Amino acid sequence: MLEDKRIIVTGSARGMGLATLTAFVQAGARVVGMDINDADGEQAARDANALGPGKAAYLHIDIADQSSVETAFQEAVNWLGGLDVLAHPAAIQAGSAASDVSVEDWDRMFAVNVRGTMITNQAAYHHMKAAGGGSIINFGSISGQRAEPGAVAYSASKGAVHSWTRSAAGAWGMDRVRVNAILPAMATPMYQEAMALLTEQQATESFWMNHRSIALGQEYGDPLTDLGPVMVFFASDASKFITGQLIPVDGGQTNTR
Ligand SMILES: NC(=O)c1ccc[n+]([C@@H]2O[C@H](COP(=O)([O-])OP(=O)(O)OC[C@H]3O[C@@H](n4cnc5c(N)ncnc54)[C@H](O)[C@@H]3O)[C@@H](O)[C@H]2O)c1
Repeated sequence: MLEDKRIIVTGSARGMGLATLTAFVQAGARVVGMDINDADGEQAARDANALGPGKAAYLHIDIADQSSVETAFQEAVNWLGGLDVLAHPAAIQAGSAASDVSVEDWDRMFAVNVRGTMITNQAAYHHMKAAGGGSIINFGSISGQRAEPGAVAYSASKGAVHSWTRSAAGAWGMDRVRVNAILPAMATPMYQEAMALLTEQQATESFWMNHRSIALGQEYGDPLTDLGPVMVFFASDASKFITGQLIPVDGGQTNTR
């Protein structure tokens, strides 16, 4: 389904980036995975190549750093021969309180999650415009849609990703560059790390706040089987008339209007 697609996937070392890289290679695409975690990123590309039938390569990137992004994207485009799709799951998550989140923690969250989205999307846009169009798939969150008193900086950063996604879609539509955001609920290392930090009481609160409303079984999804096919759809021309949307892939946990 993606045999002719040239793709970059950020955050490809683990979680949804790893699942997305794998799904794209299984759909026949040529894919460059990028991450700050090189050991796991290299391994992910080797594993994807062993599955085929597409091809994977790996490059180091720090999405918060403009020169790192520009260098990695140029090298990837040279290898791919152009760019049709950017899938951008790379991000960080951390708890923080409205009353005392530090400027340093706030700035770090925004540097990776918001500036990282802007820089990677811009780099992709310029290559896609030259190719006559493309699909950018960002990652938002239910945390950007609702009050998140235990993670205020993360929540604000994801709200910014949502509005960036809408604005970039509006700006780049005439160039046939589509920009959408997935709002996932998936059992990944990020999710497991956040759950492991909870006290018993917080875990109960988390069940009522996060799991109870997942209509399809009250459990977070599987990145490869629940998200992978959706990513293939958004990378493919089957989604060519969808842009500027926030798409929950979360078993019914939230809805967007
Ligand atoms: N897991 C969930 O249920 C959930 C819910 C809502 C939103 N999200 C969002 O979905 C996306 C994927 O989440 P995940 O659970 O797969 O996360 P994860 O933590 O499992 O994976 C994130 C990847 O991004 C990489 N990364 C972090 N900082 C980087 C940087 N500066 N440069 C390059 N790479 C960097 C990490 O090394 C890691 O491989 C994120 O944007 C997250 O905010 C996840």
